Amino acid sequence: MATNMKLNFVLFALSFMFNTANADSLVDGSFEKGKAISITCGACHGADGNSINPLWPNLANQHASYSVQQLTAFRDGKRMDSLMSAMVMSLSDQDIKDLSVYFENLPSSIKDIADPTTFDLGQKLYRGGNKESGVAACMACHGPAGKGNPAALYPALNGQGAMYTAKQLNDYATGTRVSIGPVQIMRDVAKKLTAEEIQAVSSYIQGLH
Ligand code: HEC
Ligand code: HEC
Repeated sequence: MATNMKLNFVLFALSFMFNTANADSLVDGSFEKGKAISITCGACHGADGNSINPLWPNLANQHASYSVQQLTAFRDGKRMDSLMSAMVMSLSDQDIKDLSVYFENLPSSIKDIADPTTFDLGQKLYRGGNKESGVAACMACHGPAGKGNPAALYPALNGQGAMYTAKQLNDYATGTRVSIGPVQIMRDVAKKLTAEEIQAVSSYIQGLH
């Protein structure tokens, strides 16, 4: 009897999950409301979330849970950028959720390919890490196809512009960017990478889509 009730509850919860519009989203936000306030964002990140400037990240397809974390960090001054920080000052928690759900549900239109001359180095690092310098495989957290993990707050990287990714890795290495959680995972990864490895893995990630 108790088991039956548990099963019924699980089935009910599942049917609810699959029936809502944003089935993948862990964030309680509104696509329509996000869309309505996304106009200014589109000026830099592209109206469809696919950026046209290689230093500005694509937002299309990024996990809403991760975008909420990062937008809140910008608003609270824990992540800083001369262009981005001012954009979030007046956003409420609900605005942040709505915007994050909006961009999560836009399709990525990235078709860039990885630089063939550094592909092997990039792939080796992404999939296997570097045992000599003690760098963990990026794939372990960001997934074999770069899709990340929304529950663990591991961002999707697939198709992200190589120049933006390289800037983030350099920012982590120098401490300009810090992790929001208590563990400085990305700083510890990035400071062990050579300039050549940063270039190669960023290009490899751009081609993952
Ligand atoms: C003037 C240009 C500009 C505008 C307008 C802008 N952004 Fe940004 N945004 C940036 C830049 C540049 C970065 C990357 C900063 C860095 O290098 O760390 C960024 C980063 C982000 C990130 C982090 C992405 C990641 O993968 O870590 C999110 C999320 C984001 N912006 C959302 C928004 C939203 C939502 C709006 C509208 C309210 C907006 N941005 C408006 C320039 C802009
Ligand atoms: C142990 C898990 C883990 C490993 C291994 C890992 N990452 Fe990350 N990565 C994270 C987490 C968590 C974040 C976001 C929070 C933060 O800033 O720490 C992140 C953020 C990033 C970002 C910023 C994305 C954005 O748009 O804001 C980039 C780029 C990145 N990782 C690249 C890499 C690369 C390249 C490797 C391999 C050399 C790697 N990561 C290995 C967990 C990991």
